[in-house]
Amino acid sequence: MKYHPEIFVPILIILSLFSQWEQQQVLAEPQVPCFFIFGDSIVDNGNNNFRQTTSRADFLPYGIDFPGGPTGRFSNGRNIADILAELLGFEKHIPRYANATNEDFVGGVNYGSGGAGILDETGTTLGDVISYNEQLSNHKGTVRRLAELLGGRLAARRHLRKCIYYVGLGNNDYLLNYFPKFYSSSAPYNPQNFTSLLIAQYSKQLRKLYRYGARKVAMFGTGVLGCVPLQITKYGGTDSSGCVGTINEVSSLFNQKLKRLISDLNNRLVDATFIYTNDTVTSYGNITNLTDPCCNVSTSDGACIAGTVPCNNREEHFFWDAVHPSEAATMITGKVAYISMSPLYSTTDLIQTW
Ligand SMILES: *[C@@H]1O[C@H](CO)[C@@H](O)[C@H](O)[C@H]1NC(C)=O
Ligand SMILES: *[C@@H]1O[C@H](CO)[C@@H](O)[C@H](O)[C@H]1NC(C)=O
Ligand SMILES: *[C@@H]1O[C@H](CO)[C@@H](O)[C@H](O)[C@H]1NC(C)=O
Ligand SMILES: *[C@@H]1O[C@H](CO)[C@@H](O)[C@H](O)[C@H]1NC(C)=O
Ligand SMILES: *[C@@H]1O[C@H](CO)[C@@H](O)[C@H](O)[C@H]1NC(C)=O
Ligand SMILES: *[C@@H]1O[C@H](CO)[C@@H](O)[C@H](O)[C@H]1NC(C)=O
Repeated sequence: MKYHPEIFVPILIILSLFSQWEQQQVLAEPQVPCFFIFGDSIVDNGNNNFRQTTSRADFLPYGIDFPGGPTGRFSNGRNIADILAELLGFEKHIPRYANATNEDFVGGVNYGSGGAGILDETGTTLGDVISYNEQLSNHKGTVRRLAELLGGRLAARRHLRKCIYYVGLGNNDYLLNYFPKFYSSSAPYNPQNFTSLLIAQYSKQLRKLYRYGARKVAMFGTGVLGCVPLQITKYGGTDSSGCVGTINEVSSLFNQKLKRLISDLNNRLVDATFIYTNDTVTSYGNITNLTDPCCNVSTSDGACIAGTVPCNNREEHFFWDAVHPSEAATMITGKVAYISMSPLYSTTDLIQTW
């Protein structure tokens, strides 16, 4: 559930990033010691495989381009959490929470769950997905465990403040909750007050994350949800770019309010840096097909149909299935996001305050 053409980052930046990445590979020392990930199917790397849910991607053709095949990632290959971990210099992708070991907890884990949202009820139509509240409660356990592993709460805090946190929720609160329920009806929420409800809940959740020791947080807004192929199929492309105008208006409203929330959190929470990660891409390189999924999709949920043969020109498709971007698209948006997050890893650590 992401993005659409609005080309602008100069190719030069992308090229210089490639060489920066190569240098990092040689240095083999990540820019931060740990990376924690909270989100939905954009980042899920197999947490849903063990849950009673239809929101899963642990079968071919998912993972067709991933070493070893399907993992539960909602992509033909890597997702944005993987790309960011690589760019940050991590030797391996951040492991999923579901099968994390003690060592994994120190370097960070991925709590992401396909179908999850800011609201607890979001995604429940797909089964037992892991809401943001549940992801936070899992993280609370991680913090406790780190205190044991690192020799006390203080040591755990010192460690946790150095980590980067990826937080990207909200897509499913609209796609699986608001629009299916309220698209053609009037009550009880309109876009304004539904979005305010989400932001109020998000604010509480992000303060909780801060209390668990997070100080460097990269926030990801919703994608351009009205341009997601499944939505266009469902509601019809109504605006000039063939997308669902009303859905785009609402997701852009969320992103605006999220930006305001972020500046509020930065003002109120001592020592914290929350970044609005703008991964709007302006040049899609080899991607020429910006509208059609590569795999054969189910018309009900837009997922690839198990066992079907996907297109061969995957590097030319923006969308992999009718909801999620391809690995090729993710490599481009991931690099743009990485640049946007740079205040979190290129600044020197602030003075320890305890
Ligand atoms: C991964 O975790 C799930 C649930 O947490 C468990 O059922 C499964 O056996 C684990 N798999 C491995 C390989 O550890
Ligand atoms: C949302 O706003 C609409 C229109 O102003 C109003 O009718 C509705 O009661 C509001 N809903 C809530 C839950 O505040
Ligand atoms: C992200 O950046 C693009 C390009 O500069 C801009 O048009 C867009 O408004 C930005 N989005 C947000 C939510 O700031
Ligand atoms: C684009 O395609 C060309 C020709 O196939 C290839 O050499 C190049 O590496 C591709 N660029 C990217 C960014 O994938
Ligand atoms: C995009 O891909 C679909 C399915 O493979 C194809 O039917 C369509 O013509 C392609 N569009 C463009 C602009 O390449
Ligand atoms: C979709 O499935 C049909 C029937 O199995 C097959 O003929 C076609 O090639 C598939 N298309 C794609 C894009 O996978």
